[in-house]
Parts: sequence; C-alpha cells; structure tokens
Amino acid sequence: MVSYGVAPFIFLLLLSGCCARPLFTLPSSNGKNKQPLQTFRPFNLAHRGSNGEFPEETAAAYMRAIEEGADFIETDILASKDGVLICHHDVTLDDTTDIAEHKEFANRKRTYEVQGVNTTGYFTVDFTLKELMSLGAKQRYPFRDQQYNGQFPIVTFEEFISIALAAPRIVGIYPEIKNPVFINKHVKWSGGKRFEDKFVDTLMMYGYRGSYMSKEWLKQPVFIQSFAPSSLIYISNQTDLPKIFLIDDVTIYTEDTNQSYWEITSDSYLDFIKEYVVGIGPWKDTVVPVSNNYLQTPTDLVARAHARNLQVHPYTYRNENSFLHLNFNQDPYLEYDYWLNKIGVDGLFTDFTGSLHRYQELTSPLSQNEDDASKLLHKISSMLAKYRKT
Ligand SMILES: *[C@@H]1O[C@H](CO)[C@@H](O)[C@H](O)[C@H]1NC(C)=O
Ligand SMILES: *[C@@H]1O[C@H](CO)[C@@H](O)[C@H](O)[C@H]1NC(C)=O
Ligand SMILES: *[C@@H]1O[C@H](CO)[C@@H](O)[C@H](O)[C@H]1NC(C)=O
Repeated sequence: MVSYGVAPFIFLLLLSGCCARPLFTLPSSNGKNKQPLQTFRPFNLAHRGSNGEFPEETAAAYMRAIEEGADFIETDILASKDGVLICHHDVTLDDTTDIAEHKEFANRKRTYEVQGVNTTGYFTVDFTLKELMSLGAKQRYPFRDQQYNGQFPIVTFEEFISIALAAPRIVGIYPEIKNPVFINKHVKWSGGKRFEDKFVDTLMMYGYRGSYMSKEWLKQPVFIQSFAPSSLIYISNQTDLPKIFLIDDVTIYTEDTNQSYWEITSDSYLDFIKEYVVGIGPWKDTVVPVSNNYLQTPTDLVARAHARNLQVHPYTYRNENSFLHLNFNQDPYLEYDYWLNKIGVDGLFTDFTGSLHRYQELTSPLSQNEDDASKLLHKISSMLAKYRKT
C-alpha cells in the first residue's frame, strides 16, 4: 500500500537533522552484504522502538532504535475494524494517540471486556485503517519528551516490516500477537481466517522463514511473541519461526487459557511449552522480586529455563529514576550489569536502546569481535596461502 524503500531513510536524515544528538554510525550498505545480526552477546530488543525518546510504535521510534544499535525492533500487533494489522500496544487509543482531540470520533467510545476487565475507551477495532491514520501518536509518559505529540501516524505491520528490511544492516523484528482472544472476538476476516493466520501470512509474504539461527532466519531474523500460549501452539503448525512465550506479572491470568503465573512457570509447564518456543519473556520483577523498591533474592526461573535450553528475554528496562530500583543508585548501567552478568539473560527489552547499546559496546564491543573475526580470517587465508605454495 505505501511504497517504502528509500522513504524511511529520507525520514531518518530529517530526524538526524532535527536532533542535535550524537548519532551512531551504521555501516552503509546497498542491501546485498549487510552487516549481519550480532549473535555473540545478548540481544538489544528495542521495546516499541526507541520509545524513551519518541512516541511508542511510530516509524520515528523504530528508526531511531535502528540508528542506536538495536538488534531487534519490537512491536505489538493489533487490528483495525477492517482487518488491517497495525502496530499499537493498547487495545484502546486513549493513552497513546490524540483521539481526545478528534471530536468527529467522540461517539465511538465503548466498554468491552478485555482479559476479564471491563475497559472503557476508544478501541482500535472500532476504527477503519483510514480513520486510524488520521490520528497522531502521543507520548505515553508525562515525564518524557512531548514535542513529537501528534506528528507521527500509527503504522501498519507491513510498514513496520518495511522499516526493518530497509535498515542499512540486518535488523530483526520482534512482533507480538497482542490480545488474540479480544481481536478474534471483534474482528472477522474472510475465509474464516483468524488473527494468528493473518499475522503469520504477513510474515511469510515478506520472506520471513526458517528456524532459529538457520541461514534463512539469519537473513531476516524474527521472534514471534505472545502472552497467549494457545496462539503460539496454533501457529506452530504454520511456521517454524522461533517463538517466545511472554509471562506477565504474578497476579495476571493468561488471556486464552486462564492459567496463573505459578502454573505457567512450573517445571511441567516449561517442559510442555518448550516444544513450541525457543524462550520465555518474563516481566523482570517476576525473575527478581522487588520489595520497597529494592531487589530481593532472584527466583530460579532463569536457571530452570536455561536447563531446558530456553532463552530468557525479560522486560522492560527503562532509564528513568521512577523505574530504576534503588539497588542501582539511579544508574541504568548498573541495572544492565546486574541482569547481563549476574542473572545472565539472553536479551533485554529496553525503552532506551541507545543506553543498552553503549553499555554493551563498553563491556563487550562489536568492533572487538569483528577485529577478532577478521584476524582469524587473515590467519586462515595465510595458512591456505602456505599450502598453495607447496
Ligand atoms: C462488564 O459489564 C457487563 C455489563 O454491565 C457485565 O454484565 C459484566 O459482568 C461485566 N464484566 C466484568 C468482568 O466486570
Ligand atoms: C495442526 O494440524 C493438524 C493437521 O491439520 C491438526 O490435526 C492439528 O490439530 C493442528 N494443531 C494445532 C495446534 O492447531
Ligand atoms: C480464571 O481462573 C480464576 C482462578 O481459578 C477464576 O477465579 C476465574 O473465574 C477464571 N476466569 C475465567 C474467565 O474463567
């Protein structure tokens, strides 16, 4: 529908012009020999794009994250009334768009049951894509930069994929099948297709295929995530792309199977789900409980996941004091150090991809690794040369 390609990078140039901030230089590429996905250190997962800086789930946020060194750009997929898959976190538009200023939609407010809770607001499923496109995204938190409010539209899943594919190096995507029970109840597709089918069809259409670390996967890396285990199991019949089972806070039941946190983190459940997923994505406070804003003794969830060869990608890491537990002296680097070196996770969902990238470059630099690789290649080629001479 929208012709991308160069458009994101024109946009990127505009962005870099407007922000007097140092930008990370990405190796340029004509698309053929892109710098590969790094796989030697834990993944930097840009949560809803670089949403610490730009309104979440916008092209600006995703592109900023790419520019800042994200390994994967993360997004939440929902649907419009007319069945188009869009990138938006909340099932309502109230907290992250300027819907309140659109008087023409004032009569669209509804109350629906979402995950067992009656919720009132403007729901994406009551708006066509065209209507959604007339809204402007807005920063969720009052203490973050408000200057971009209303400037960027909601993007579709296809546009999101185009942004990742147009990046000057290989950047993975990390889309979530968000609230599938709610979406399947309110949106109907032709041919009896389900939300999950449309989701997988979209990935296939753009060439995403292959199991974790396969040659195909490394060309276009993706992790499919969901809090709904039945959606992950359902799509396992359609694709062997790697899947991550998200785990919510201890008080929240799964939307589809109504299982408790304790049930889905039990040994027997991990043994069951490991047949379908390559990892889990837990809320970080469930890995290390918090009391009075101080970390307590870590649980054994990471050890039990690793024992089953499951990766652990906790969420969400945020720089602001209001989110940093007091153990970390208000220093996000200390938090990264703790999770990467003490807890030993395999990826982190962060609102500030640039900070995680800088931390990883200081402690486990990509260039060092490249140097080692090129030294090794040099050694091999000189060894081969020796054989050729004789
Ligand atoms: C939501 O509201 C409806 C209508 O008032 C009511 O019948 C239903 O029980 C409510 N559901 C919950 C979970 O509170
Ligand atoms: C997978 O496909 C088979 C064959 O069509 C079907 O019997 C099975 O129920 C499907 N499994 C899931 C989880 O949908
Ligand atoms: C989910 O399980 C909880 C605890 O067993 C129960 O109280 C609740 O009614 C269940 N909800 C649904 C929708 O079945």
